[in-house]
Amino acid sequence: MARLGDTHLAVAAIDFGTTYSGYAYSFRHEFIKDPLKIYTNQQWLDSESGLLTFKAPTSILFDKDGNFDSFGFLAEENYNTLVEDEKEDGWRFFRRFKMNLYREMNIGASKLAGRLDRDLKLKDEQGRTMSAMDIFSDAIRYLKDHCLEVLGNAVQGMKPDDVHWILTVPAIWTDAAKQFMREAASKAGIKDHQLDLALEPEAAAIYCKEIMVKARVEEKNSRGLSAFIPGEKFLLLDIGGGTVDITCHQVMNDSKLKEIHPPTGGPWGGTVVDEAYFSFLHDLVGQKTWDDFVKSNKSGKLDLERVFEMKKRNLKQSEFTFIKVGQSFLQTCSNKNKKYSSTVEVKKDKLKLVNGLMKEFFQFPMMAIVEHLESLFMKRPLRDITNILMVGGFSESDLMKDKIELSFPGKNVIRPVDANIAVLKGAVIFGHSPEAICERTSPRTYGICVSVPYDVELHPRKSYFVSDGCEMASDIFQVMVKAGQTVRMGKTKAEHVCRPAHAYDTVSTVELYESTNECPEYTSDPSCRQLGELEVEMPDTTKGKDRRIVVAIHFGYTELKFTATEEGTNHKAEAKFNCLR
Ligand SMILES: Nc1ncnc2c1ncn2[C@@H]1O[C@H](COP(=O)(O)OP(=O)(O)OP(=O)(O)O)[C@@H](O)[C@H]1O
Ligand SMILES: [Mg+2]
Repeated sequence: MARLGDTHLAVAAIDFGTTYSGYAYSFRHEFIKDPLKIYTNQQWLDSESGLLTFKAPTSILFDKDGNFDSFGFLAEENYNTLVEDEKEDGWRFFRRFKMNLYREMNIGASKLAGRLDRDLKLKDEQGRTMSAMDIFSDAIRYLKDHCLEVLGNAVQGMKPDDVHWILTVPAIWTDAAKQFMREAASKAGIKDHQLDLALEPEAAAIYCKEIMVKARVEEKNSRGLSAFIPGEKFLLLDIGGGTVDITCHQVMNDSKLKEIHPPTGGPWGGTVVDEAYFSFLHDLVGQKTWDDFVKSNKSGKLDLERVFEMKKRNLKQSEFTFIKVGQSFLQTCSNKNKKYSSTVEVKKDKLKLVNGLMKEFFQFPMMAIVEHLESLFMKRPLRDITNILMVGGFSESDLMKDKIELSFPGKNVIRPVDANIAVLKGAVIFGHSPEAICERTSPRTYGICVSVPYDVELHPRKSYFVSDGCEMASDIFQVMVKAGQTVRMGKTKAEHVCRPAHAYDTVSTVELYESTNECPEYTSDPSCRQLGELEVEMPDTTKGKDRRIVVAIHFGYTELKFTATEEGTNHKAEAKFNCLR
C-alpha cells in the first residue's frame, strides 16, 4: 500500500486537467512549519496572450514515429508551425483528451461497461489514432520530468526516490479510470509505492481549509472562516474544463474533514461554453462552409479556440464583445445566417457580438450545475449546508459566481484566492497528510461473487449447480460495504478466505462487483456490474487443496486497496487487482 514515509523529502503533485495541467511541490521540513509553502511552476508562457500561467494546456504532440515531441503551449505552437509549413502529415496532435476516459467509462449498459480497455485508442483531430495509455503516460512523464528538474535545481542531491507523487483524478471517476491513471503513471516512471491518487474536489477542500485556518491564525478578516468551524458543513464545487466535481464535508473537532455524501458531478465544465461558441460559428456560416474551413485551415479551429479562451475569461460588462477571428474565417462569413443579423456584425477582422449572445454560451453549464445543486440540497444530510466553496478555472467566471449566488441566496458563497490552482496546491498538502480526510462515504455497494449451499426456498433454480457432490447456489453477491456507508482509511476492511479450486492451482481468483443498490442479492442483478478480478498467488501446491489465503479489501482510501496473508501466519501473499480489460 502506498504510504508516505518519513524518508520522502518532498511531495510533488500533478494535476492532470481536461484543459490545463500542471505540477506543484513542497518540502517536508517546510510543510511542518507552514503547510501553504507550496511551489508552483510559473514558467508556462502563452505566446498568444503573453501571460505566464501556473498550468499548461493539456496538449501533446508526437512525431511521425510516434515519439513524444512536446507538451503544453509548445506542442500547440509546434503543431501550428507544422500545419503552416504543410508538414504535419503523420504527426499526431492531441488536446483535451482526459474527457475521453470519462466518456468511455460511461458508455454502454453492459455489465463490463465500467471496465476500461487498457488498449483504448484515441483519434486526433485528423483522425490519426494512438494508444490512450501512451498519450496519458507521456503527458505524465513530461510533467514529472519537468518537476524533477526544477526540484533538482532547488535542492542539490535531490533524487527521484526522495519524492512522493500525487496524481489528481476527478472524484466521480470509476475504479477502472483510476487504475488506468495509475498504470499510465507507472509507465511514466513513477513507482507504484511512491504514488497516491488524490480526488480533485477533496484536494481543493483541504487547500481551502488550510488558507482559512491560516487566516484565522493571522486574524485576517475572512468571510470563509465560519465555514471551517467544527461542526460546519460545506459543499465544494470544482468547476474545471471538463467536469464539475462536487463533494460535501463536515469539519470535525480536530479540524479533519468528514465526507457526508458520495461525490457527484457531471460533464458541465468550461469546454461546454467553447462547444456552444463553436456550434454558433457553425450555425453562422452553415455546415458546408464550416466543413470547408476546417478542412482547409487545419490550425484554424485551434486559433479560434485560443482567441475565444481569452475573451471568455475577460467578459466585459459592456454591450458588445469583439472577437478576433482572422482573415481565413472572415472569408467564410460573406453569407452569414440571417438569424444573427441583429446580434452579430463583421467589423474588420473581428466578429462583434451583442453580449447577450455571448452570455448564452454559458447558459447550459450554469443551468445544469444549479439544477444539480438544487437536487443535492434536497437530500437530508445536505439540507443544512450553508457554505458553497467555488474552485476550478470556470469558477473564476463572475457570470458563474453571480449565478450561484443568485440561485442560492441563503448560502455563503466563497471563492478563495487561487481558485484555479486550489486542486493542485491541495493535492500537495494531501500528499503530506492524507488523513486530512478522515471519513468517506462509499459511493456504491462493493462485494464479491460467491457460491453458497443451495436452499430451494431461497435461491432460484438458475443458480443451482453441483460441486464435489454438494448442491450449491452460484452468483451470490456477498456485500462488503454498502452504498452510503461511512468508510474510514485504515479502519474499514472486509476479509475473504480464498481456497484453491483444485489441488494444482497456483492462483485463486476473486471477482469483485459493485452495485448502485444498497443490498443486491445476486451479481446478475441489473444494478450490479463486475468491477474486476483479484488474483491471489498460491505458488506452493504442496498442501493441495488445504491452502487458505486471507484477502483483505480496504475501503476509505481514494482507491480500493488489497492485502493478502496466509491464514494463521504473517506470511504475505501477492494479490493483484485488475479492473481494466
Ligand atoms: N475567468 C474565467 N472565466 C470563464 N472561464 C474560465 C475563466 N478562467 C478559466 N476558465 C475556464 O476554466 C476551464 C479550466 O479550468 P481548470 O483549469 O480548473 O480545468 P481542468 O483542470 O483543466 O479541467 P478538469 O478539472 O475538468 O479536468 C477552462 O474551460 C477555462 O476556459
Ligand atoms: Mg481540474
